[in-house]
Amino acid sequence: MATSRGVRARVEALRREIRHHDYLYYVLDRPKIPDAKYDRLFRALQQIEAAHPSLVTPDSPTQRVGGAPLASFPGVRHLAPLLSLDSVVDPEDVRRFDARVRQVAGHDLVWELEPKFDGLSLELVYEDGRLVRASTRGDGERGEGVTENVKTIGAVPLRLREDGPRVPRRLAVRGEALIRIKDFEQLNARLAKRGEPTFANPRNAAAGSIRQLDPRVTAGRRLEVFFYDVLAMTGGPRFRRSVEMLDALRAWGLRTSGENRTGTTVEDVLAYHDRLGRRRHTLAFEIDGVVIKLDDLAARDRLRATSRHPRWALAYKFAPRAEQTVIRDIRVQVGRTGLLTPVAVLDPIEIGGVTVSRATLHNREEVARKDLRIGDTVRVVRAGDVIPEVVARIGRRRRRGRAFTMPHRCPSCRTPIVREGPLDRCPNGLACPAQLKGAIAHVGSRAALDIRGLGTETVEALVSTGLVRSVADLFTLKAADLRRLERFADVSSRNLLDAIDGARHPDLGRFLYALGIPGVGAATARDLAAHFGRLDALMDADEAALRVVPGIGPALSASVATFFGRRQNRRIIEQCLARGVTPRAPARATRGRFAGQTVVFTGSLSAMTRDEAEARVLAEGGQVSGSVSRQTDLVVAGADPGSKLARARALGVPVVDERTFLKRLGRREPREASE
Ligand code: IVH
Repeated sequence: MATSRGVRARVEALRREIRHHDYLYYVLDRPKIPDAKYDRLFRALQQIEAAHPSLVTPDSPTQRVGGAPLASFPGVRHLAPLLSLDSVVDPEDVRRFDARVRQVAGHDLVWELEPKFDGLSLELVYEDGRLVRASTRGDGERGEGVTENVKTIGAVPLRLREDGPRVPRRLAVRGEALIRIKDFEQLNARLAKRGEPTFANPRNAAAGSIRQLDPRVTAGRRLEVFFYDVLAMTGGPRFRRSVEMLDALRAWGLRTSGENRTGTTVEDVLAYHDRLGRRRHTLAFEIDGVVIKLDDLAARDRLRATSRHPRWALAYKFAPRAEQTVIRDIRVQVGRTGLLTPVAVLDPIEIGGVTVSRATLHNREEVARKDLRIGDTVRVVRAGDVIPEVVARIGRRRRRGRAFTMPHRCPSCRTPIVREGPLDRCPNGLACPAQLKGAIAHVGSRAALDIRGLGTETVEALVSTGLVRSVADLFTLKAADLRRLERFADVSSRNLLDAIDGARHPDLGRFLYALGIPGVGAATARDLAAHFGRLDALMDADEAALRVVPGIGPALSASVATFFGRRQNRRIIEQCLARGVTPRAPARATRGRFAGQTVVFTGSLSAMTRDEAEARVLAEGGQVSGSVSRQTDLVVAGADPGSKLARARALGVPVVDERTFLKRLGRREPREASE
């Protein structure tokens, strides 16, 4: 069908109008027309394009949800590295940073202050004003191409506005993809209703939504973007200051935060942080601090960057989430290794969405240092996945209870306690019921023999009735024994016995880990298994023979040798073997998704524990190592990764995040049709 000039002009006019309303809505936050009217414009454009397909261009507002689902995301090399920020929580560190930068940038400098959005960092590339590519941060050098998904985000212009500064020939900008807290909650409610896995926090929801292979799913997630940096530019205006750069972004239609400010003194910086911190809970988006940036771009160049962080910017994070409550009791727990830990029983409080009723007090010296007593009002923090901790006493009471003292005898077996510096330990080993319970639960844990059904209550019942007096007793349990236990139905006893049977032929590494040798974690246990190959060879090895195992130092070799030197330990192992437990020599898997690859984990994972993740890699034929070297094939970086990430980057080792790792494991991601 011939397309008249009139139709062409009408299409262009509609697109211009729609883009303009997008700009008013997203960037200026001042919509001028009601949604219904916007929808009419949009439908009019869709209808004309349907009748004249030759007029459809990739940057038409109708093309936000384009292509079919992808099989995988293409790798993309960024035009400039996406650096990360050095981060601090202590105002003294901010003062030091301020003083350091002033020495280079001059004493009359300007600070540019921004919220630190807690989302997913993206690079967007515009050529001649048209969005051509979008990618995730990845390892900072290379990310995943997520163009189709990013195009679905309303706040991302497919074309830059032309009525501001000259539009660059090529522009790479950095921004953060986010989801509103309200939309996150609604999304989770929808997912839960359908029985699908939910997201732990808005950041995971935003990241998970961007990394969907089907753009229609992303389109249904209501993502948002804020832009905060120009990564690379050719043929555009020259900026001298960062505020000019941010103004240009806005003029081009790239939304910046309405909370951005400037300051000239370090006091301005601290005040901005405090103000935003206090308003944090009223904001639509999750932020985890503020970002302080030097406004003078020439001075930025003089300061340059370390290998990872620019020296001209700093993330000043908010303190971890804390609430106050009252200590109702202080109890002492005896762990699997006999260590005594004082634990505060609290009036339950919600901290960052989780109800907390117990918090660790670490050890005797910590309780004394903080002078914590029953009845005290205290501040409790919870940072990420770690166990909640009582940080300090608040307020003064005139009449306080007695100071806490560690018991002199083990609360479980009454054996006199041995002091080891700040620590207290029950030396009674597996003859102590608390330690025995810990040991049995440990044997059943996923990274050890993985015995389903051996939960806390069951262990409690097995030990306290005397049915299980050692690890070896697990392997002689009979249905009749279990039936004697209260609340143990036929089905659950059958299941438990089956699970125990299924654990009779573990990998040697798992068996060694299950033994609970002091200092021997899952990784060390595997190293030992790989080196010795057979249980008897390891049991007979002396310290010198142990020390040649890579990664085993003098302290560990002494610990292992001592463990196998004890007659009681040898007897329990022999009983296990006599009762049909046969640890298998480690066979190197040659098949599986990680066959032949050495994987290193850093940071914390949200979908599974580190031990489980490692076990999965091994099951898929891979090796797990604790440190990054040139031999490492892959680094999996969870939340708050440590120095291993930097080392991986320095060595050019590929890095993936948790979602990608799960995908490689073959875990299905939550999938939805358009919502
Ligand atoms: S500037 C070189 N500004 O925080 C400057 N980052 O490591 C690099 N972030 O992954 C970043 N809000 O994704 C900057 N206003 C903001 C930010 C911001 C959030 C993220 C960014 C980065 C992390 C810091």
